[in-house]
Amino acid sequence: MPACLTKEMITSLVSRCTIAASEAARYLPLISDQRRLLSAKKGVYREEVTQYDKELEKKILCHLLLPDDGYLAEETGYRCGTSGIKWIVDPIDGTLNFARRLPAYVISIAAEVGGNVVAGAIYDPTHQDVFTAGLGMGARCNGYEIKSSNIFELSDAIISTGFSIRPEIRRKQAEIIARILTEVRDIRSCGSAALELCWLAAGKVDAYYEHDLRYWDYAAGALIASEAGADIRVQGDFVIGAAPAISPKFNHHLKI
Ligand code: IPD
Ligand code: CA
Ligand code: CA
Repeated sequence: MPACLTKEMITSLVSRCTIAASEAARYLPLISDQRRLLSAKKGVYREEVTQYDKELEKKILCHLLLPDDGYLAEETGYRCGTSGIKWIVDPIDGTLNFARRLPAYVISIAAEVGGNVVAGAIYDPTHQDVFTAGLGMGARCNGYEIKSSNIFELSDAIISTGFSIRPEIRRKQAEIIARILTEVRDIRSCGSAALELCWLAAGKVDAYYEHDLRYWDYAAGALIASEAGADIRVQGDFVIGAAPAISPKFNHHLKI
């Protein structure tokens, strides 16, 4: 924990993340409305973006920011602050799912102090679950403590992963899948990195890995999974997490 931070300060950052995420969720379309949403394409790789990505992010920043805070937010960009707090915001992680009304997307917010993520909250509107963590204070879902799985054998493990939009990275990802598929119980891919890290934290899946992530995809989720007891490694844009007992074997098979 950065020396200047008390538990009370971290708790307050966790609750700021939580409230901002839950408040923003009120502006999402109703879960019962199953009509596909309009999406536009952004960037070189023409990723989907909806009006909600932009609107929610505005609301989240408006809610969170004190005048001197910094932020890194997917749709808005970067602002350097002077307060020492930087908010890392992904207004909708899993936009492709969201636009098609596939029920796997979340709002993800983290607070960074002194270069460390110290607080995070991820809100899953479909299940109305809020996953939270404060550095050194454990992880919770809806206020109840969560723990990563205590599985021992890789052959019993469910592994979660996601795929880059870039074909050259997908080729590498296909090779990794081919290598590990025969070693594990099964593989899942839900299309929201932040949600998959929450599933790792809650012991629903036993390991997770993904290439080509952005910081806002995993900042909150990696803290939540790590505080729940998972082994988390971030190497550039590659995030790997596993239940502690299978972590060495899993890393060995990934050959990263
Ligand atoms: C995406 C999701 C997805 C991952 C992509 C991300 P977005 O975020 O996290 O699981 O595979 O790489 O870009 O675009 O829906 O916020
Ligand atoms: Ca994302
Ligand atoms: Ca997003």
